[in-house]
This record gives sequence, C-alpha cells and structure tokens, in this order.
Amino acid sequence: MSKGRTLIALLAAGGVVAGLAACAPAGTSGSAGDASGGTDCNVGISMPTRSLERWINDGEGLKTKLEGDSCTVDLQYADNKTDQQISQIQNQVAGGAKVLVVAAIDGQTLGPVLEDAKNQGVTIIAYDRLINGTEAVDYYATFDNYKVGTLQGEFIEEQLDLANAAGPFTMEPFAGSPDDNNAGFFFQGAWDVLQPYVESGKLVIPSNKLSATNSDWKSIGILGWGSDDAQAEMDNRLQSFYTGGQKVQVVLSPNDSLALGIEQSLLSAGYQPGADWPIITGQDADKANVQAMLNGQQSMTVWKDTRELGTQVQAMIKSIVAGETPETNDDETYNNGVKVVPSYLLDPQVVVKDDVQSVLIDSGFLKAGDVGL
Ligand code: BGC
Repeated sequence: MSKGRTLIALLAAGGVVAGLAACAPAGTSGSAGDASGGTDCNVGISMPTRSLERWINDGEGLKTKLEGDSCTVDLQYADNKTDQQISQIQNQVAGGAKVLVVAAIDGQTLGPVLEDAKNQGVTIIAYDRLINGTEAVDYYATFDNYKVGTLQGEFIEEQLDLANAAGPFTMEPFAGSPDDNNAGFFFQGAWDVLQPYVESGKLVIPSNKLSATNSDWKSIGILGWGSDDAQAEMDNRLQSFYTGGQKVQVVLSPNDSLALGIEQSLLSAGYQPGADWPIITGQDADKANVQAMLNGQQSMTVWKDTRELGTQVQAMIKSIVAGETPETNDDETYNNGVKVVPSYLLDPQVVVKDDVQSVLIDSGFLKAGDVGL
C-alpha cells in the first residue's frame, strides 16, 4: 500500500473514533439491538483457535464490546479445524445469528456455508483474514497486512544498514500458513524490501529456502502457524546448512508464534542472546514474545492493537443493524477472486524492547506482570 493510502487509512481511523464518540449509547434510538431500528443485533463470532493468545483476546474483547451494545453474541473457537468451523457457523445461523464475524482458518473453504447463511439474510464480515472465492462476504476488517510485512523487511534493512553495508549477511526466511490469505501479504511486503538485497548478494540464504518469486512464498510456509513446526524447520536448516561454525544472522519470521519456535531452536543449537543471536522479526506482541524481546531473544514485533479492530467491527455491526452501510476505507486492495471486498484497514506499528512500557503497557494492552516487569 502506498504511503498516501496509509495516511488516508490513518485519517479515516481518526474519523471513526470521533464518530463513535458521537454515537448514542446502546438502547437509545438507532443503536444496535434497538427494537425500533433495523435487524436484531444477534452476532455469531467464529474464531480459529484458542491456542494463540491473539485470538482469545480478539474473541473475548469483541464479545464484551457487543454485549455492551445489548447484542446477543455466540463466540466459538474451532480448534484450527475447518470442519469444526463450518459446523459452528451452521449452528450460529440456525440459532438466529443475523451477522457473522469470521476469522477463517482456511480462506478457501467457507464459501458454501457462508452462501447458505447469506441466503438466509445474514451479513458476513471477514475478520482479520479474507475469505476467498465467494460472493458471500460483505465486509472485511483487518490491519494493513502488506504493511506488516513492509515493517518487518524495513526493520531488517535498517538494522543491518543494508543500503550501505557490504555484507554478505546470512538470512533464513519463513512464511505463514499457506491457507491464510494474510500470509501472502505479509511475505510480499517483506520480500519487496529484501529481495533486491538477495539479488545483489548482500543477503545470502544458506538453506536456499526462499521464494523464487513473490507468489512462490507458500513453499516456505508453515501450515497452521505452529511454533513446534517452525522449531522443527529451523532445527533442520541449522543442522543441515550451518556447519563449520557458520551462523545465521537474520531470521525473517512473519509472526510471534513462528518466532517462538525459531528462538527455541536457536537456544538448542547453542546460540546465546547477545553477540551471536540473530535479528528476528515477529508480529502480534504475544506475552511470551514480549518477554523474549526483553530477554534479547527477539528484535521486534509488529503490534496490531486488536482492541481497535474490535471497535471497528463493533461500528460496522452498529451500522448493519441500523440498516446503514458500514464505513470502509479501502475498496480496491482485497479482491477475493470473485469480488473486491469493501475493507477497513487499520495501521500496524513496530514495537521494540524500549517501547514495551510506553506502548504496550501504558496503553493497557499488556500488564507489567504479564511480561515479568
Ligand atoms: C494474523 C496474525 C497471526 C496469524 C496466526 C494471521 O492471520 O493476522 O496476527 O499471527 O494469523 O494466527
């Protein structure tokens, strides 16, 4: 996304905050759940898994906000199993949901169940991850996923001063789950920054596990975003390609769950935080990773304030139940193969060790005790 569009996204985000502040409280005329207004505020929230901290926060946070608007809310987690997610969605529709908020496990497979829902008058919001190949997705609320990757790539570029340094530096790139539409955006954002340095030889990839082209990223994706799988993959790369004392100097990790596994692998291989510890990127500001940043085991994380995403979806739902069109700020980037889905993009931000207190704790996103402070 261009800087200009990012700025527009920011300005629009400011507008939403102002708009929400001006909203009448729940129960007054035109608010969600108001019998005199549009549809009932009956919402099914379908989240992928409880095994990742962010989805627990996302789900519980959104449920609390919507219940504050007097909505009826059913929140389900699908254990990272697509079949389970499909049957949970079917149950939510059978139970009277009028709006579905879905963070898809697999962005390709929900078409039929959502088309059934749509035929019954349900409005569908894709949450954080786009749902592909179907008309039955009305809106998309997310962070600027391409920018997440850009921030990771630029961080590496700046830390190594790639524009000026001679290199070469050894790097191992990872990508996220191949079935998650976001993972491609994360990789592309980072690779657009880093690929020129790979081509010029300043960055070398001893394992040769790289994406020859931007669209080839799935070949290095970790299915299901599991820490254990990332750890096993990193173990493999270190044992097979880093022999004779060679060290890895940079790891491009798209998120915190992968970073955690990679960090465990490095510890097992004898790397010590400090001198020979590589630069490692992440995303989400999970507690364990924030602790890893404080311990010198992770260089950065891209923080997405998921409370803001909840507020955005809450505003969308308010509009939908009032019979109005929700506000979006990007109507061109997210083509799901069948349609361009009107989207609301929020801005992600880089957090490093020195920002933990001022950004993550002072904003109330984490408690000091959560990260051992
Ligand atoms: C989300 C990330 C998350 C990853 C694994 C992605 O779709 O955008 O925030 O780290 O899924 O759950």
